[in-house]
Amino acid sequence: MSFERKHLNMDLGWRFLLDKGESDGEVKKSHSDVYNARKAGRTTSPANPNLFDDSMWEKIDLPHDYMREADFSPDAMGSHGYRVYSNGWYRKTFSVDPSWKGKHAMLVFDGIATTSLIFLNGSLIERSFSGYSEIAIDVSDRLYYDRINTLAVYTRGDEIEGWWYEGAGIYRHSHLYIKDTYHIAHNGIWAKPVLCENTENDWVVELETTLENTDYEEANGHIRAFIFDGDTLISEAAGEETVCVSDGKTVANVKMSVNNPERWDIDSPKLYTLKVQLLRENDIIDEDSVRIGFRTIRMDANKGFFLNEKPVKILGTCNHQDHAGVGVAIPDSIQYYRIRRLKEMGCNAYRSAHNPPTKEVLDACDEYGMIFMDENRIFESSSEIIHQMETLVRRDRNHPCLVFYSLFNEEPLQNTPEGLAIYKKLKSRAKKLDDTRFFTGGLNDAAHTIGAGMAMDVLGFNYAIQRIPLMHKQFPDTPIIGTENCSATTTRGCYVSDRENAQILNNYDEEIVSWGHTVRTNWKFVFENDFMSGAFDWTGFDYRGEPSPFVWPSVSSQFGIMDTCGFAKDSYYFHQAIFKKEPMMHLMPHWNWKDGETVRVMTVTNCDEAELFLNSVSLGRQKSDPFVQCEWQVEFQAGKISAIGYLNGRAVAWDEHQTAGKGVGIKLEADRIDINNAGQDTVPVRVSVVDEYGIEVPTASNMINFEIIGDGIIAGVGNGDPNSHEPDHMPYRKLYCGLAQVLVTAKLGAKKLKLIAKSEGLADAEISFDVVDVPSPNYVFFQESRTITEVLVSPENMEERPDPFKVYSENDMNTFASTSLLGRGAWPIPAGFNKGWREFRIPLKLPKRIPEGKIPAIQTSLVVCQSVDFYIGKKHVFSATPDYNDTLLIPLGEADENEFELRCIMNAKLRSQNGFRGSWFLTYIDDPKA
Ligand code: GAL
Repeated sequence: MSFERKHLNMDLGWRFLLDKGESDGEVKKSHSDVYNARKAGRTTSPANPNLFDDSMWEKIDLPHDYMREADFSPDAMGSHGYRVYSNGWYRKTFSVDPSWKGKHAMLVFDGIATTSLIFLNGSLIERSFSGYSEIAIDVSDRLYYDRINTLAVYTRGDEIEGWWYEGAGIYRHSHLYIKDTYHIAHNGIWAKPVLCENTENDWVVELETTLENTDYEEANGHIRAFIFDGDTLISEAAGEETVCVSDGKTVANVKMSVNNPERWDIDSPKLYTLKVQLLRENDIIDEDSVRIGFRTIRMDANKGFFLNEKPVKILGTCNHQDHAGVGVAIPDSIQYYRIRRLKEMGCNAYRSAHNPPTKEVLDACDEYGMIFMDENRIFESSSEIIHQMETLVRRDRNHPCLVFYSLFNEEPLQNTPEGLAIYKKLKSRAKKLDDTRFFTGGLNDAAHTIGAGMAMDVLGFNYAIQRIPLMHKQFPDTPIIGTENCSATTTRGCYVSDRENAQILNNYDEEIVSWGHTVRTNWKFVFENDFMSGAFDWTGFDYRGEPSPFVWPSVSSQFGIMDTCGFAKDSYYFHQAIFKKEPMMHLMPHWNWKDGETVRVMTVTNCDEAELFLNSVSLGRQKSDPFVQCEWQVEFQAGKISAIGYLNGRAVAWDEHQTAGKGVGIKLEADRIDINNAGQDTVPVRVSVVDEYGIEVPTASNMINFEIIGDGIIAGVGNGDPNSHEPDHMPYRKLYCGLAQVLVTAKLGAKKLKLIAKSEGLADAEISFDVVDVPSPNYVFFQESRTITEVLVSPENMEERPDPFKVYSENDMNTFASTSLLGRGAWPIPAGFNKGWREFRIPLKLPKRIPEGKIPAIQTSLVVCQSVDFYIGKKHVFSATPDYNDTLLIPLGEADENEFELRCIMNAKLRSQNGFRGSWFLTYIDDPKA
């Protein structure tokens, strides 16, 4: 029988608790707590389904970074942005379709910061040691199909993996896959397009599909594969019948030919879809697909990098993964926005510094035509780190954008035999999975004769461009790339540095760290040396943490070409002038100064001449060079300053600024006006203040209040101020140097959505979004009721009615037997309850937050007995003389405490088995007193 795999999205509907040692997060240390701590299904922590109450926890959706809300403190780590780090608990109660029972179930977290413990139904199912690695867990044995599941995750935000803001929490997406027990393994498709020798453009896709059989019996089947260009099938192939041993894996190989495909290139990033089906006889039992691209890559030690045999200078940026407002929990649409902003600058490459990124970043780079450098986090050869490296390669190797694996950054062991050995091991393991990419790493000590550099395909070097020519001489046969460059520091909108007090740095491309270079110096070197394959500028965007050269109260880096919102600094245009061929002109600074003040004016252009005008009077025409640029000292006069760029004597580009008057109104500009209602679409909105003529006030710092009308939320706010301690999650923000950003998310199923902005003394502004109806992902929602997963029962039939108030010793683990309720129709107690009495004890914790007019109650079904009585503490709360297979609702409104043991005395009726045969749920009923 065929089964269609299910991909369920687990993002919406979670409960979150900051672990401040409050009672709800606390793990007690009695003997029974310790005894149970690591028993399957019984863990003593907020992961225990019955014994911890999440009703008062915050309701949140993923992706979620709770550090963005943490307080700032001068005593906290500056590298991590002076946020007071803490740990947190997440819980999600949910159910799945009972008909999936017996299938293979895999839970996947794309990333949890930093280390974490993951529990399902009271069992610890995974410990994750990485804040950046994908976590995939086979939960087939621990998932309940006929009852409510409790998934819990404990995250340690106080662990250190890097020297930048790392965020904390389940900050990437989460998924649940249900597949046939014989299926295509997770990340199991490896499609390697190979150009056929001596042909212009005929390709073979070497397809390797890992099949997994999680059943305890042998399985057999074969694969079929298809390559599509849009909806058009362009190639297909079928594999041989393969047998997969029980509980094991096998690999199916096929070759597919593709003639004359459109190439994946930087300017035309053409993608194809490759679909693989697994069939048992004629039934399709599983199906998965990946996107692929056809392109060749080559490196030459003297001539650099070649894409599709054309020389391409790698014009890259390094980036960390946080954005204004949301921290590291970046919505997919914001990832696309960021990559697009880089692409528009003329950048063609992205280094994921210094860790595996979320996979949507690679998706965006595939689509926009950005060469990718993927990086693992830790440089060690322990099995855990090799596992992280392999996870990264398996997940990313189909992406055509992926060209480099960087195996480390500035490691102290880089020039030692140990460093070389670790490098070789990591490379060898990664190469077994992908032998088509170049391996590099961020060296920062050029004397690497015995070090890791010897095993690199491409020597990656951070900064110190003055040492690179010597390196090229020493290693004339190894290509070289700048893995990290510039580290020029600028504050958006600032034109006068103030290192002492304001901790701001001007934008004239002259402020650098002691080991860095200006944008112009660095790129001049890269362009003048053919052997330089290219470079990766540190960084595309400002990021939280590492506020060098400053310390508190500075909380964010200033290395970005853009600020944390993605607003261009002038650096953006210094890069554009170097990266882009189309003529461009950027004039700096803005034109709001004091009368008579002398202002340093610069034109940033790729034209060969620049001319400046003040109120239509020429202030001179100068020869221009993108690696130099032109400057004027101009006495300020209100009005219009403008610049014209000439190429071969012809005016081809211009820019201008007008002096703005007093701000009178707010201006909102959405990055796009359409927003989809699948539940996670987020649009960045640029906020500014304008004068009576609609001219933006570049110095405005007004506080703006935001409001949503309709079906949306404000996902976060920011303004790019590296020294701001304002909250990111509140619906207000001051402008910084004239700008702020608000991120608007449409709710699932949204119909209407409007953003309103207000500020004292300014006219309001609003934007109505065009909400687009789209099919939503297959979400798994939070369920309020809970399954009681464990009931203790006296193991023998008693002739006398037992005493429900009898006290047993705290470390008595043996008088009562544990019966995990096995679900619908399953017998919950040891066989043989055919006469006399039994006692049941059910440790419970009631939710503190109870829906109005309701009281909590236990619902239990398929009850068979003569009579049954329930007690809470010393109180008798319920009795029944049920019919055969009755359902009982036991009200728990009498409980004084929210944590107690529900006790139950049952008298047998039938000669066969009595007891509770169905599930136990904690639910709510109408309050009889209401
Ligand atoms: C490098 C390092 C980066 C960042 C940068 C700042 O040494 O690799 O992560 O710290 O310096 O200039």
